[in-house]
Amino acid sequence: MNASAPSPRAFVIGWPIAHSRSPLIHTYWLKTYGIAGSYERIPVKPDDLADFLRGFAQQGFVGGNVTLPHKEAAFALCAKRTEAAERLQAVNTLWMDGGQLCGDNTDVVGFLASLDADVADWSQCEKAVVLGAGGAARAILAALMSRGIPRIAIINRNRSRGEELVALAKAIDPAQQIALYGFEDARTCLEGAGLLVNTTSLGMQNQPPLVIDLAPLPDHAVVADIVYVPLETDLLKAARRRGLKTSAGLGMLLHQAVPGFERWFGKRPEVTAELYTLVARDIRGEP
Ligand code: ATR
Repeated sequence: MNASAPSPRAFVIGWPIAHSRSPLIHTYWLKTYGIAGSYERIPVKPDDLADFLRGFAQQGFVGGNVTLPHKEAAFALCAKRTEAAERLQAVNTLWMDGGQLCGDNTDVVGFLASLDADVADWSQCEKAVVLGAGGAARAILAALMSRGIPRIAIINRNRSRGEELVALAKAIDPAQQIALYGFEDARTCLEGAGLLVNTTSLGMQNQPPLVIDLAPLPDHAVVADIVYVPLETDLLKAARRRGLKTSAGLGMLLHQAVPGFERWFGKRPEVTAELYTLVARDIRGEP
């Protein structure tokens, strides 16, 4: 970057957006690496999304993050998308290339990097169980399939949504062994599973609890939750009490931010213990 070039600006857009921790993460990295740039939180209503995406480069932005409810609509407005974004039909990271809007979905690599950091050998597992079939479940399913997990079971309340997820898996790899269950079948499902991932909003602050008995899981099983408020969900607490390895949702939030920062600011940032503590404090509401 030459001395006269303006400092790069990035954004996070959503509706609402006040709760986003992304500014805390990216501003920490800008400061840590001494990069003159900014990362701003911008509320964008669904009706204003297309105009914002058409105009952000003229406003001096190099790109940014997209969160709820814009991930699918932004995908549709991108001229170029990565394979991960195509697979999930949703984007969370945007940038410009040759005047064209480009989009990536970093949830898959974010989840994998987080789980790898927490439990080195997790992908040896023969069977994984995924709770949920929403947007987040799509990313987790793609992540598990990318590591070649032989058998995957989906548990979801709404059967037709679950069936859509099974269809997505079959579209990625017709040979993938995948089955759909209801919560009433959880016991059978968990038997022999090496990994359990919660992708539902159950167990999140102000949401209903996730009621599931972990007793059928084998002793070597790993339990991951993508919910990060609270930092340690009741699911993770129950897993820890049973002596199982766990992976908390905050790791995914931090790791999914890495590729965007690198694209906008030209430096691959590290997810450090210091960053983890900073964001954890904010989630706990500590000064
Ligand atoms: P996200 O994009 O975060 O995944 P979502 O697409 O709304 O959000 O998906 C939420 C997931 O949590 C879904 O699997 C949803 O189950 P349904 O498909 O049956 O709606 C699950 N979920 C939310 N509240 C739930 C509840 N009270 N009981 C069971 N599952 C619930």
